[in-house]
Amino acid sequence: MKKNWFILIIAFISFSCATHKNNQTNQQQEYKNGAVVTAHPLASDVGVTILKKGGNAVDAAIAVKFALAVVYPNAGNLGGGGFLVYRGKSGEIASLDFREKAPKAAFKDMYLDKEGNPITDLSLYGQLAAGVPGTVAGMEEAYKKYATLPWDVLVQPAIELASKGFAITAKQAGEFNEYQADFKKFNPNGAAIIRNEKWNEGDIFKQEELANTLRRIAAKGRDGFYKGATADLIVAEMKKGNGIITHKDLEDYKAIWRNPIVGYYKGYKVISMPPPSSGGIALMALLQSVENYPLKKWGFQSDSTIRAMVEAERRIYADRATHMGDPDFYRVPVDQLIDAKFNQDRMSKVSLAKATNSDDVKATKFPGYESEETTHFSIVDKDGNAVSLTTTINGSYGSYVWVDGAGFLLNNEMDDFSVKPGSPNMYGLLGGKANAIEPNKRMLSAMTPTIIEKDGNLKMVVGTPGGSTIITSVFQTILNVLEFDMTAQESVSASRFHHQWKPDRIDVEAKAIDENTRKSLEKDGYTIRKRGNIGRVENIVVLPNGKLQAGADHRGDDTAKGY
Ligand code: GLY
Repeated sequence: MKKNWFILIIAFISFSCATHKNNQTNQQQEYKNGAVVTAHPLASDVGVTILKKGGNAVDAAIAVKFALAVVYPNAGNLGGGGFLVYRGKSGEIASLDFREKAPKAAFKDMYLDKEGNPITDLSLYGQLAAGVPGTVAGMEEAYKKYATLPWDVLVQPAIELASKGFAITAKQAGEFNEYQADFKKFNPNGAAIIRNEKWNEGDIFKQEELANTLRRIAAKGRDGFYKGATADLIVAEMKKGNGIITHKDLEDYKAIWRNPIVGYYKGYKVISMPPPSSGGIALMALLQSVENYPLKKWGFQSDSTIRAMVEAERRIYADRATHMGDPDFYRVPVDQLIDAKFNQDRMSKVSLAKATNSDDVKATKFPGYESEETTHFSIVDKDGNAVSLTTTINGSYGSYVWVDGAGFLLNNEMDDFSVKPGSPNMYGLLGGKANAIEPNKRMLSAMTPTIIEKDGNLKMVVGTPGGSTIITSVFQTILNVLEFDMTAQESVSASRFHHQWKPDRIDVEAKAIDENTRKSLEKDGYTIRKRGNIGRVENIVVLPNGKLQAGADHRGDDTAKGY
Protein backbone atom coordinates (compact mmCIF):
# COMPACT_ATOMS: atom_id res chain seq x y z
CA MET A 1 0.00 0.00 0.00
CA LYS A 2 2.79 2.35 1.09
CA LYS A 3 4.67 1.44 -2.11
CA ASN A 4 1.60 2.24 -4.23
CA TRP A 5 1.37 5.70 -2.68
CA PHE A 6 5.07 6.27 -3.34
CA ILE A 7 4.63 5.30 -7.01
CA LEU A 8 1.60 7.57 -7.27
CA ILE A 9 3.49 10.54 -5.80
CA ILE A 10 6.48 10.00 -8.12
CA ALA A 11 4.11 9.66 -11.09
CA PHE A 12 2.38 12.89 -10.10
CA ILE A 13 5.67 14.78 -9.75
CA SER A 14 6.91 13.49 -13.12
CA PHE A 15 3.60 14.43 -14.74
CA SER A 16 3.63 17.94 -13.28
CA CYS A 17 7.15 18.43 -14.57
CA ALA A 18 6.11 17.10 -17.95
CA THR A 19 3.28 19.60 -18.31
CA HIS A 20 5.21 22.56 -16.89
CA LYS A 21 8.67 22.16 -18.34
CA ASN A 22 8.37 19.53 -21.03
CA ASN A 23 10.59 19.36 -24.10
CA GLN A 24 13.35 21.35 -22.49
CA THR A 25 16.30 20.23 -24.48
CA ASN A 26 18.11 23.56 -24.41
CA GLN A 27 20.18 24.68 -21.45
CA GLN A 28 19.39 28.03 -19.84
CA GLN A 29 21.92 30.58 -21.17
CA GLU A 30 22.96 33.69 -19.24
CA TYR A 31 25.22 36.49 -20.50
CA LYS A 32 26.67 39.62 -18.97
CA ASN A 33 27.28 41.92 -21.95
CA GLY A 34 24.95 41.12 -24.79
CA ALA A 35 22.60 38.42 -26.04
CA VAL A 36 21.27 37.42 -29.45
CA VAL A 37 18.56 34.79 -29.99
CA THR A 38 17.66 33.86 -33.56
CA ALA A 39 16.31 30.97 -35.60
CA HIS A 40 19.78 29.87 -36.79
CA PRO A 41 23.10 29.40 -34.95
CA LEU A 42 25.09 31.17 -37.72
CA ALA A 43 22.83 34.23 -37.58
CA SER A 44 23.24 34.34 -33.79
CA ASP A 45 27.04 34.18 -34.30
CA VAL A 46 26.87 37.14 -36.71
CA GLY A 47 24.91 39.17 -34.14
CA VAL A 48 27.41 38.49 -31.36
CA THR A 49 30.37 39.30 -33.66
CA ILE A 50 28.85 42.71 -34.42
CA LEU A 51 28.17 43.38 -30.72
CA LYS A 52 31.77 42.45 -29.87
CA LYS A 53 33.01 44.85 -32.59
CA GLY A 54 31.31 47.63 -30.63
CA GLY A 55 28.07 47.68 -32.61
CA ASN A 56 24.82 48.34 -30.77
CA ALA A 57 21.62 46.24 -30.82
CA VAL A 58 20.45 47.90 -34.07
CA ASP A 59 23.80 47.28 -35.80
CA ALA A 60 23.54 43.64 -34.72
CA ALA A 61 19.87 43.45 -35.82
CA ILE A 62 20.70 44.69 -39.33
CA ALA A 63 23.58 42.20 -39.70
CA VAL A 64 21.41 39.36 -38.33
CA LYS A 65 18.56 40.31 -40.65
CA PHE A 66 20.79 40.05 -43.74
CA ALA A 67 22.44 36.86 -42.43
CA LEU A 68 19.04 35.21 -41.93
CA ALA A 69 18.21 35.97 -45.59
CA VAL A 70 21.10 33.62 -46.41
CA VAL A 71 21.09 30.93 -43.72
CA TYR A 72 17.34 30.73 -43.14
CA PRO A 73 15.80 31.08 -46.62
CA ASN A 74 12.34 29.86 -45.63
CA ALA A 75 11.64 33.03 -43.64
CA GLY A 76 14.73 35.22 -43.26
CA ASN A 77 14.53 37.34 -46.38
CA LEU A 78 15.27 40.17 -48.75
CA GLY A 79 11.96 39.65 -50.57
CA GLY A 80 9.64 40.07 -47.59
CA GLY A 81 9.06 42.50 -44.78
CA GLY A 82 8.64 42.83 -41.05
CA PHE A 83 8.44 44.96 -37.95
CA LEU A 84 11.04 46.19 -35.50
CA VAL A 85 10.37 47.37 -31.95
CA TYR A 86 13.19 49.30 -30.27
CA ARG A 87 13.89 50.42 -26.75
CA GLY A 88 17.03 52.45 -26.13
CA LYS A 89 19.08 52.26 -22.97
CA SER A 90 17.44 55.42 -21.61
CA GLY A 91 13.93 54.19 -22.26
CA GLU A 92 13.21 55.87 -25.61
CA ILE A 93 10.96 53.67 -27.75
CA ALA A 94 10.20 53.34 -31.47
CA SER A 95 8.65 50.94 -33.91
CA LEU A 96 9.46 50.52 -37.59
CA ASP A 97 7.00 49.18 -40.15
CA PHE A 98 8.72 47.60 -43.16
CA ARG A 99 5.72 45.44 -44.02
CA GLU A 100 5.20 44.53 -47.70
CA LYS A 101 2.46 46.46 -49.51
CA ALA A 102 0.06 45.74 -52.35
CA PRO A 103 1.41 46.79 -55.77
CA LYS A 104 -0.34 49.79 -57.34
CA ALA A 105 -2.10 47.52 -59.86
CA ALA A 106 -3.66 45.39 -57.09
CA PHE A 107 -7.45 45.48 -56.68
CA LYS A 108 -10.05 44.13 -54.27
CA ASP A 109 -11.24 41.10 -56.23
CA MET A 110 -7.91 40.15 -57.83
CA TYR A 111 -7.94 36.62 -56.35
CA LEU A 112 -11.62 35.82 -57.13
CA ASP A 113 -13.00 33.79 -60.04
CA LYS A 114 -15.95 34.86 -62.23
CA GLU A 115 -18.40 33.54 -59.64
CA GLY A 116 -16.70 35.60 -56.93
CA ASN A 117 -15.04 32.64 -55.20
CA PRO A 118 -11.42 32.82 -54.01
CA ILE A 119 -8.81 31.10 -56.21
CA THR A 120 -6.71 30.33 -53.15
CA ASP A 121 -3.52 29.29 -54.94
CA LEU A 122 -3.26 32.67 -56.68
CA SER A 123 -2.68 34.54 -53.42
CA LEU A 124 -0.34 31.83 -52.15
CA TYR A 125 2.01 30.71 -54.94
CA GLY A 126 3.76 32.35 -57.88
CA GLN A 127 4.58 35.92 -58.81
CA LEU A 128 1.05 37.33 -58.23
CA ALA A 129 1.16 36.34 -54.56
CA ALA A 130 3.99 38.77 -53.84
CA GLY A 131 3.65 42.14 -52.17
CA VAL A 132 6.25 44.86 -52.69
CA PRO A 133 9.15 43.85 -50.38
CA GLY A 134 10.04 46.08 -47.43
CA THR A 135 13.09 44.47 -45.81
CA VAL A 136 15.93 46.44 -47.40
CA ALA A 137 14.17 49.80 -46.98
CA GLY A 138 13.46 48.86 -43.36
CA MET A 139 17.08 48.03 -42.62
CA GLU A 140 18.30 51.28 -44.19
CA GLU A 141 15.75 53.27 -42.18
CA ALA A 142 16.81 51.58 -38.93
CA TYR A 143 20.46 52.18 -39.91
CA LYS A 144 19.96 55.92 -40.48
CA LYS A 145 18.33 56.41 -37.09
CA TYR A 146 20.30 54.23 -34.70
CA ALA A 147 23.28 52.36 -36.19
CA THR A 148 26.92 53.18 -35.47
CA LEU A 149 29.08 50.86 -37.62
CA PRO A 150 29.55 51.30 -41.40
CA TRP A 151 26.65 49.83 -43.46
CA ASP A 152 28.88 47.58 -45.57
CA VAL A 153 30.36 46.06 -42.40
CA LEU A 154 26.83 45.00 -41.43
CA VAL A 155 26.05 43.41 -44.82
CA GLN A 156 29.47 41.72 -45.21
CA PRO A 157 28.81 38.64 -43.00
CA ALA A 158 25.77 37.80 -45.13
CA ILE A 159 27.80 38.20 -48.33
CA GLU A 160 30.40 35.78 -46.98
CA LEU A 161 27.82 33.22 -45.89
CA ALA A 162 26.19 33.37 -49.34
CA SER A 163 29.39 33.26 -51.40
CA LYS A 164 31.39 30.76 -49.34
CA GLY A 165 28.32 28.72 -48.40
CA PHE A 166 27.47 27.18 -45.05
CA ALA A 167 26.75 23.70 -43.72
CA ILE A 168 22.99 23.13 -43.51
CA THR A 169 21.37 21.61 -40.42
CA ALA A 170 19.46 18.31 -40.38
CA LYS A 171 16.16 20.18 -40.15
CA GLN A 172 17.08 22.31 -43.16
CA ALA A 173 18.11 19.28 -45.22
CA GLY A 174 14.70 17.74 -44.50
CA GLU A 175 12.84 20.90 -45.52
CA PHE A 176 14.94 21.52 -48.65
CA ASN A 177 14.12 17.96 -49.81
CA GLU A 178 10.43 18.20 -48.90
CA TYR A 179 9.82 21.26 -51.10
CA GLN A 180 11.92 20.31 -54.19
CA ALA A 181 8.90 19.61 -56.44
CA ASP A 182 7.36 23.02 -55.63
CA PHE A 183 10.69 24.79 -56.09
CA LYS A 184 11.12 23.15 -59.52
CA LYS A 185 7.56 24.01 -60.58
CA PHE A 186 7.92 27.72 -59.82
CA ASN A 187 11.57 28.14 -60.88
CA PRO A 188 12.01 26.51 -64.29
CA ASN A 189 15.41 28.21 -64.72
CA GLY A 190 16.65 26.68 -61.47
CA ALA A 191 17.71 28.16 -58.12
CA ALA A 192 20.59 27.46 -55.74
CA ILE A 193 18.38 25.30 -53.55
CA ILE A 194 17.23 23.07 -56.42
CA ARG A 195 19.18 19.90 -57.10
CA ASN A 196 18.50 16.36 -58.22
CA GLU A 197 20.30 14.52 -55.44
CA LYS A 198 19.02 14.73 -51.85
CA TRP A 199 20.28 17.38 -49.44
CA ASN A 200 21.97 15.97 -46.33
CA GLU A 201 22.93 17.53 -43.02
CA GLY A 202 26.33 19.22 -43.39
CA ASP A 203 26.04 19.79 -47.16
CA ILE A 204 27.40 23.21 -48.14
CA PHE A 205 24.73 25.60 -49.47
CA LYS A 206 26.24 28.34 -51.67
CA GLN A 207 24.15 31.19 -53.13
CA GLU A 208 26.27 33.19 -55.61
CA GLU A 209 23.39 35.21 -57.11
CA LEU A 210 22.22 36.18 -53.63
CA ALA A 211 25.79 37.18 -52.75
CA ASN A 212 25.80 39.53 -55.77
CA THR A 213 22.47 41.08 -54.74
CA LEU A 214 23.86 41.60 -51.24
CA ARG A 215 27.01 43.20 -52.73
CA ARG A 216 24.78 45.70 -54.59
CA ILE A 217 22.95 46.42 -51.31
CA ALA A 218 26.26 46.79 -49.44
CA ALA A 219 27.48 49.28 -52.06
CA LYS A 220 24.30 51.32 -52.61
CA GLY A 221 21.94 50.72 -49.68
CA ARG A 222 18.26 50.63 -50.65
CA ASP A 223 19.10 51.76 -54.19
CA GLY A 224 20.98 48.48 -54.61
CA PHE A 225 17.61 46.72 -54.27
CA TYR A 226 14.80 49.08 -55.33
CA LYS A 227 16.67 50.47 -58.36
CA GLY A 228 19.21 49.23 -60.92
CA ALA A 229 20.06 45.59 -61.57
CA THR A 230 18.09 44.08 -58.67
CA ALA A 231 14.92 46.03 -59.51
CA ASP A 232 15.29 45.03 -63.19
CA LEU A 233 15.54 41.37 -62.18
CA ILE A 234 12.44 41.60 -59.93
CA VAL A 235 10.37 43.21 -62.69
CA ALA A 236 11.65 40.65 -65.24
CA GLU A 237 10.63 37.89 -62.80
CA MET A 238 7.12 39.39 -62.62
CA LYS A 239 6.82 39.09 -66.40
CA LYS A 240 7.73 35.38 -66.29
CA GLY A 241 4.52 34.76 -64.38
CA ASN A 242 1.44 36.82 -63.69
CA GLY A 243 3.17 39.29 -61.34
CA ILE A 244 2.31 42.98 -61.16
CA ILE A 245 5.16 44.65 -59.21
CA THR A 246 6.61 47.52 -61.28
CA HIS A 247 9.77 49.63 -61.08
CA LYS A 248 7.63 52.44 -59.69
CA ASP A 249 6.22 50.19 -56.94
CA LEU A 250 9.79 49.39 -55.92
CA GLU A 251 11.07 52.97 -56.06
CA ASP A 252 8.05 54.25 -54.11
CA TYR A 253 8.33 51.74 -51.24
CA LYS A 254 8.90 53.40 -47.88
CA ALA A 255 9.48 51.97 -44.42
CA ILE A 256 7.48 53.94 -41.82
CA TRP A 257 8.25 54.84 -38.20
CA ARG A 258 5.04 54.46 -36.18
CA ASN A 259 4.11 55.06 -32.56
CA PRO A 260 4.39 51.76 -30.70
CA ILE A 261 1.42 50.32 -28.82
CA VAL A 262 2.06 50.97 -25.14
CA GLY A 263 0.06 49.59 -22.23
CA TYR A 264 0.45 48.17 -18.76
CA TYR A 265 0.01 44.76 -17.19
CA LYS A 266 0.33 44.71 -13.39
CA GLY A 267 2.84 47.56 -13.46
CA TYR A 268 4.87 46.15 -16.38
CA LYS A 269 5.07 48.48 -19.39
CA VAL A 270 4.37 46.54 -22.58
CA ILE A 271 5.76 48.04 -25.84
CA SER A 272 4.64 46.35 -29.05
CA MET A 273 3.87 46.75 -32.75
CA PRO A 274 0.94 48.94 -33.91
CA PRO A 275 -1.11 48.44 -37.11
CA PRO A 276 -0.65 47.29 -39.80
CA SER A 277 0.13 44.57 -37.29
CA SER A 278 -2.75 43.39 -35.17
CA GLY A 279 -0.14 41.97 -32.79
CA GLY A 280 0.43 44.81 -30.33
CA ILE A 281 -3.25 45.69 -29.96
CA ALA A 282 -4.34 42.07 -29.58
CA LEU A 283 -1.55 41.26 -27.11
CA MET A 284 -2.35 44.28 -24.97
CA ALA A 285 -6.08 43.53 -25.04
CA LEU A 286 -5.38 39.89 -24.05
CA LEU A 287 -3.20 40.91 -21.12
CA GLN A 288 -5.80 43.43 -19.95
CA SER A 289 -8.55 40.82 -20.29
CA VAL A 290 -6.85 38.35 -17.93
CA GLU A 291 -5.34 40.88 -15.52
CA ASN A 292 -8.06 40.45 -12.89
CA TYR A 293 -7.92 36.65 -12.80
CA PRO A 294 -5.70 34.88 -10.22
CA LEU A 295 -3.68 33.09 -12.88
CA LYS A 296 -0.68 32.53 -10.63
CA LYS A 297 -2.85 30.83 -8.04
CA TRP A 298 -4.70 28.81 -10.66
CA GLY A 299 -1.38 27.71 -12.17
CA PHE A 300 0.22 27.17 -15.57
CA GLN A 301 -2.05 25.42 -18.09
CA SER A 302 -4.65 24.68 -15.39
CA ASP A 303 -8.29 24.24 -16.33
CA SER A 304 -9.31 27.70 -15.07
CA THR A 305 -6.26 29.46 -16.58
CA ILE A 306 -6.97 27.95 -20.00
CA ARG A 307 -10.66 28.94 -19.84
CA ALA A 308 -9.86 32.56 -19.00
CA MET A 309 -7.20 32.84 -21.70
CA VAL A 310 -9.30 31.10 -24.39
CA GLU A 311 -12.40 33.22 -23.71
CA ALA A 312 -10.29 36.37 -23.99
CA GLU A 313 -8.66 35.09 -27.22
CA ARG A 314 -12.06 34.28 -28.76
CA ARG A 315 -13.31 37.83 -28.26
CA ILE A 316 -10.16 39.63 -29.31
CA TYR A 317 -9.72 37.64 -32.55
CA ALA A 318 -13.36 38.51 -33.40
CA ASP A 319 -12.50 42.19 -33.00
CA ARG A 320 -9.32 41.69 -35.02
CA ALA A 321 -11.28 40.34 -38.01
CA THR A 322 -13.47 43.44 -38.20
CA HIS A 323 -11.49 46.34 -36.87
CA MET A 324 -7.86 45.89 -37.88
CA GLY A 325 -6.09 46.79 -41.10
CA ASP A 326 -3.55 49.26 -42.51
CA PRO A 327 -4.04 52.47 -40.49
CA ASP A 328 -3.16 54.58 -43.56
CA PHE A 329 -6.30 53.19 -45.25
CA TYR A 330 -8.67 52.34 -42.41
CA ARG A 331 -9.37 54.01 -39.08
CA VAL A 332 -8.41 51.34 -36.55
CA PRO A 333 -10.07 52.09 -33.16
CA VAL A 334 -6.79 51.58 -31.31
CA ASP A 335 -7.67 53.39 -28.08
CA GLN A 336 -10.97 51.57 -27.66
CA LEU A 337 -9.41 48.16 -28.39
CA ILE A 338 -6.72 48.61 -25.72
CA ASP A 339 -8.92 50.26 -23.12
CA ALA A 340 -8.24 48.23 -19.96
CA LYS A 341 -11.66 49.03 -18.48
CA PHE A 342 -13.44 47.94 -21.68
CA ASN A 343 -11.54 44.64 -21.82
CA GLN A 344 -11.97 43.93 -18.11
CA ASP A 345 -15.68 44.83 -18.07
CA ARG A 346 -16.24 42.55 -21.02
CA MET A 347 -14.48 39.62 -19.33
CA SER A 348 -16.33 40.22 -16.06
CA LYS A 349 -19.55 39.22 -17.89
CA VAL A 350 -18.06 36.00 -19.26
CA SER A 351 -18.87 32.72 -17.55
CA LEU A 352 -15.89 30.41 -17.38
CA ALA A 353 -18.17 27.50 -16.49
CA LYS A 354 -19.04 26.73 -20.12
CA ALA A 355 -17.44 27.49 -23.49
CA THR A 356 -18.98 30.48 -25.24
CA ASN A 357 -20.02 29.56 -28.78
CA SER A 358 -17.92 31.62 -31.21
CA ASP A 359 -21.05 32.15 -33.35
CA ASP A 360 -22.45 34.15 -30.43
CA VAL A 361 -19.35 36.36 -30.25
CA LYS A 362 -19.46 39.29 -32.65
CA ALA A 363 -16.90 42.01 -33.13
CA THR A 364 -17.51 44.91 -30.76
CA LYS A 365 -19.49 47.81 -32.22
CA PHE A 366 -17.42 50.91 -31.49
CA PRO A 367 -18.95 54.28 -32.27
CA GLY A 368 -17.77 56.05 -35.07
CA TYR A 369 -4.22 37.88 -40.52
CA GLU A 370 -0.58 34.94 -41.66
CA SER A 371 2.21 31.90 -42.14
CA GLU A 372 3.83 29.70 -39.77
CA GLU A 373 7.03 30.73 -41.52
CA THR A 374 8.02 33.98 -40.24
CA THR A 375 11.03 34.39 -38.00
CA HIS A 376 11.81 36.44 -34.95
CA PHE A 377 14.97 37.56 -33.18
CA SER A 378 15.67 39.34 -29.92
CA ILE A 379 18.87 41.28 -29.20
CA VAL A 380 20.15 43.20 -26.17
CA ASP A 381 23.53 44.97 -26.26
CA LYS A 382 26.00 45.82 -23.46
CA ASP A 383 24.38 49.21 -22.84
CA GLY A 384 20.87 47.78 -22.58
CA ASN A 385 19.57 48.87 -26.00
CA ALA A 386 17.07 46.28 -27.20
CA VAL A 387 15.66 45.18 -30.56
CA SER A 388 12.70 42.86 -31.02
CA LEU A 389 12.29 42.09 -34.74
CA THR A 390 9.88 39.77 -36.54
CA THR A 391 10.21 39.29 -40.31
CA THR A 392 8.37 37.21 -42.86
CA ILE A 393 7.75 36.13 -46.43
CA ASN A 394 4.46 34.65 -45.11
CA GLY A 395 4.35 30.91 -45.98
CA SER A 396 7.38 28.66 -45.68
CA TYR A 397 9.50 29.68 -48.70
CA GLY A 398 6.89 32.40 -49.50
CA SER A 399 5.57 32.29 -53.07
CA TYR A 400 8.19 29.58 -53.96
CA VAL A 401 9.53 32.04 -56.55
CA TRP A 402 13.25 32.93 -56.45
CA VAL A 403 13.97 36.10 -58.42
CA ASP A 404 15.91 34.67 -61.34
CA GLY A 405 19.43 36.10 -61.33
CA ALA A 406 19.01 37.78 -57.93
CA GLY A 407 18.81 34.63 -55.81
CA PHE A 408 16.18 35.59 -53.24
CA LEU A 409 12.66 34.40 -52.57
CA LEU A 410 9.55 36.54 -53.06
CA ASN A 411 6.91 36.66 -50.36
CA ASN A 412 3.29 35.47 -50.66
CA GLU A 413 2.10 38.13 -48.27
CA MET A 414 -0.90 39.11 -50.44
CA ASP A 415 -2.68 36.16 -48.79
CA ASP A 416 -2.64 38.11 -45.51
CA PHE A 417 -5.25 40.43 -47.01
CA SER A 418 -8.87 39.45 -46.68
CA VAL A 419 -9.29 38.13 -50.23
CA LYS A 420 -13.07 38.05 -49.71
CA PRO A 421 -15.06 39.04 -46.60
CA GLY A 422 -15.75 35.94 -44.49
CA SER A 423 -13.39 33.74 -46.50
CA PRO A 424 -10.50 32.39 -44.37
CA ASN A 425 -6.84 32.90 -45.32
CA MET A 426 -4.18 30.16 -45.04
CA TYR A 427 -4.36 30.44 -41.25
CA GLY A 428 -8.13 30.30 -41.10
CA LEU A 429 -8.24 33.99 -40.21
CA LEU A 430 -11.24 36.02 -41.29
CA GLY A 431 -11.38 39.65 -42.30
CA GLY A 432 -13.52 42.30 -43.94
CA LYS A 433 -13.36 45.83 -45.27
CA ALA A 434 -10.59 46.94 -42.92
CA ASN A 435 -8.22 44.43 -44.52
CA ALA A 436 -9.59 44.34 -48.10
CA ILE A 437 -7.04 44.64 -50.94
CA GLU A 438 -6.39 48.19 -52.16
CA PRO A 439 -3.48 49.54 -54.21
CA ASN A 440 -0.43 50.44 -52.06
CA LYS A 441 -2.12 49.17 -48.88
CA ARG A 442 -0.28 47.05 -46.30
CA MET A 443 -1.84 43.68 -45.46
CA LEU A 444 -2.79 43.04 -41.82
CA SER A 445 -0.23 41.09 -39.84
CA ALA A 446 -0.18 39.25 -36.51
CA MET A 447 3.54 39.75 -35.92
CA THR A 448 4.08 40.85 -32.34
CA PRO A 449 7.67 41.90 -31.62
CA THR A 450 7.45 43.09 -28.01
CA ILE A 451 9.60 44.67 -25.32
CA ILE A 452 8.63 44.85 -21.64
CA GLU A 453 10.03 47.11 -18.98
CA LYS A 454 9.52 47.30 -15.22
CA ASP A 455 10.14 50.42 -13.17
CA GLY A 456 11.97 52.08 -16.05
CA ASN A 457 14.29 49.11 -16.63
CA LEU A 458 14.37 46.63 -19.51
CA LYS A 459 12.71 43.35 -18.49
CA MET A 460 11.98 41.22 -21.56
CA VAL A 461 12.50 41.12 -25.37
CA VAL A 462 10.19 38.59 -26.99
CA GLY A 463 8.53 37.50 -30.23
CA THR A 464 7.81 34.53 -32.48
CA PRO A 465 6.72 33.33 -35.92
CA GLY A 466 3.51 31.30 -36.24
CA GLY A 467 0.90 33.13 -38.35
CA SER A 468 -2.31 33.58 -36.44
CA THR A 469 -0.73 31.90 -33.38
CA ILE A 470 1.93 34.60 -32.98
CA ILE A 471 -0.21 36.75 -30.71
CA THR A 472 -1.24 33.94 -28.38
CA SER A 473 2.31 32.51 -28.20
CA VAL A 474 3.71 35.89 -27.16
CA PHE A 475 0.82 36.26 -24.70
CA GLN A 476 1.59 32.86 -23.13
CA THR A 477 5.34 33.45 -23.00
CA ILE A 478 4.86 36.75 -21.18
CA LEU A 479 2.51 35.11 -18.66
CA ASN A 480 4.97 32.21 -18.26
CA VAL A 481 7.57 34.67 -16.98
CA LEU A 482 5.42 37.24 -15.16
CA GLU A 483 2.85 34.88 -13.61
CA PHE A 484 4.37 31.41 -13.56
CA ASP A 485 7.96 32.37 -12.62
CA MET A 486 9.61 30.53 -15.51
CA THR A 487 13.14 31.23 -16.74
CA ALA A 488 13.57 32.55 -20.28
CA GLN A 489 14.32 29.03 -21.54
CA GLU A 490 11.38 27.47 -19.68
CA SER A 491 9.08 30.20 -20.97
CA VAL A 492 9.82 29.33 -24.61
CA SER A 493 10.07 25.56 -24.11
CA ALA A 494 6.71 25.27 -22.31
CA SER A 495 4.01 23.79 -24.51
CA ARG A 496 1.37 26.08 -25.95
CA PHE A 497 -2.29 26.29 -26.96
CA HIS A 498 -4.21 28.68 -29.20
CA HIS A 499 -7.76 29.90 -29.89
CA GLN A 500 -8.63 32.43 -32.61
CA TRP A 501 -12.43 32.77 -32.39
CA LYS A 502 -13.00 30.88 -35.66
CA PRO A 503 -12.62 28.00 -36.17
CA ASP A 504 -14.12 27.56 -32.70
CA ARG A 505 -11.57 25.21 -31.16
CA ILE A 506 -8.50 25.17 -28.94
CA ASP A 507 -5.42 24.01 -30.85
CA VAL A 508 -2.96 22.33 -28.47
CA GLU A 509 0.57 21.02 -28.74
CA ALA A 510 0.94 17.35 -27.80
CA LYS A 511 1.70 17.88 -24.10
CA ALA A 512 0.01 21.23 -23.56
CA ILE A 513 -2.83 20.02 -21.36
CA ASP A 514 -3.22 17.03 -19.13
CA GLU A 515 -5.93 14.42 -19.50
CA ASN A 516 -8.15 15.65 -16.64
CA THR A 517 -8.07 19.23 -17.92
CA ARG A 518 -8.92 18.03 -21.43
CA LYS A 519 -11.91 16.03 -20.17
CA SER A 520 -13.13 18.93 -18.04
CA LEU A 521 -12.87 21.42 -20.92
CA GLU A 522 -14.60 19.07 -23.38
CA LYS A 523 -17.43 18.42 -20.91
CA ASP A 524 -18.07 22.16 -20.84
CA GLY A 525 -18.26 22.61 -24.59
CA TYR A 526 -14.66 23.30 -25.64
CA THR A 527 -13.42 21.55 -28.78
CA ILE A 528 -9.77 20.56 -28.54
CA ARG A 529 -7.54 19.62 -31.47
CA LYS A 530 -4.00 18.33 -31.08
CA ARG A 531 -1.58 19.78 -33.60
CA GLY A 532 2.17 20.06 -34.21
CA ASN A 533 4.44 22.79 -32.91
CA ILE A 534 3.03 26.23 -32.24
CA GLY A 535 5.52 29.06 -32.82
CA ARG A 536 9.25 29.38 -32.25
CA VAL A 537 9.62 31.97 -29.53
CA GLU A 538 12.87 33.81 -28.78
CA ASN A 539 12.98 35.50 -25.40
CA ILE A 540 15.58 37.49 -23.48
CA VAL A 541 14.78 38.23 -19.83
CA VAL A 542 16.83 40.75 -17.85
CA LEU A 543 17.47 39.41 -14.34
CA PRO A 544 17.49 41.66 -11.25
CA ASN A 545 21.33 41.38 -11.23
CA GLY A 546 21.43 42.75 -14.81
CA LYS A 547 22.38 39.43 -16.42
CA LEU A 548 20.66 38.52 -19.67
CA GLN A 549 18.82 35.22 -19.55
CA ALA A 550 18.24 34.00 -23.12
CA GLY A 551 15.75 31.36 -24.22
CA ALA A 552 15.89 29.89 -27.75
CA ASP A 553 13.01 27.70 -28.88
CA HIS A 554 13.92 24.01 -29.13
CA ARG A 555 11.22 23.54 -31.79
CA GLY A 556 13.74 24.62 -34.46
CA ASP A 557 17.50 25.18 -34.80
CA ASP A 558 17.07 28.33 -32.74
CA THR A 559 20.13 29.34 -30.77
CA ALA A 560 20.98 31.79 -28.02
CA LYS A 561 24.47 33.29 -28.04
CA GLY A 562 26.06 36.07 -26.07
CA TYR A 563 29.12 37.12 -24.17
N1 GLY B 1 2.52 36.60 -42.60
C1 GLY B 1 2.46 36.51 -41.19
C2 GLY B 1 2.06 37.81 -40.53
O1 GLY B 1 2.37 38.85 -41.04
O2 GLY B 1 1.44 37.83 -39.51
